[in-house]
Amino acid sequence: MEKLLVLYSSRNGQTKKIVEAMQGEFKGYDVELANLHGPVRKNLSKYDKVLIGASIRYGKFHQDLHTFIHIHSEQLSAADASFFCVCLVARKPEKADPDNNVYIKKFLAKSRWRPRTIGVFAGALKYSEYNWWQKRIIQLIMKMTGGSTDTSQDLEFTDWDKVREFAERIAKSKYE
Ligand SMILES: Cc1cc2nc3c(=O)[nH]c(=O)nc-3n(C[C@H](O)[C@H](O)[C@H](O)COP(=O)(O)O)c2cc1C
Repeated sequence: MEKLLVLYSSRNGQTKKIVEAMQGEFKGYDVELANLHGPVRKNLSKYDKVLIGASIRYGKFHQDLHTFIHIHSEQLSAADASFFCVCLVARKPEKADPDNNVYIKKFLAKSRWRPRTIGVFAGALKYSEYNWWQKRIIQLIMKMTGGSTDTSQDLEFTDWDKVREFAERIAKSKYE
């Protein structure tokens, strides 16, 4: 059975929820799911495929993601490795296109690794989980971008069909 490593960098749980939803498409693989913020200095050559998913906060991925990619850059380049990003700007379809997403553009400019497949998914707005500051900042961003400023309601923007299609593409891809 082919081995697939799925790593996630998630702060409020949405990226984790997305990788869990992908699991159904990974039948036929021996899947290892791991938190990128845990002890994951892994030998990536043990895996047939690698998938990394990470969320955005204040315009950035977590530094642990960049550190992991830096440490494993040779193995990632040699592997059948893919990447996806979770953010709120992607609730607008044009910003969910990897060729047109500011965070993917910045990521590719910063990293030598060229993921085989790249995805962008809209995340969730979880006002109920944010602290006072985070609420104010997210409200401000929402106001500027025409989103919901009603802090009494959490909203999920993730397109689950798109998530499953992406996972299916990863599962079916053949690496030459
Ligand atoms: C403090 C904070 C800052 C955020 N900053 C951004 C941002 O700059 N751009 C964006 O598109 N989304 C931003 N988001 C939205 C998150 O990317 C979104 O909520 C996502 O679902 C988080 O995924 P996670 O739960 O896996 O961490 C921010 C969320 C929080 C809580």
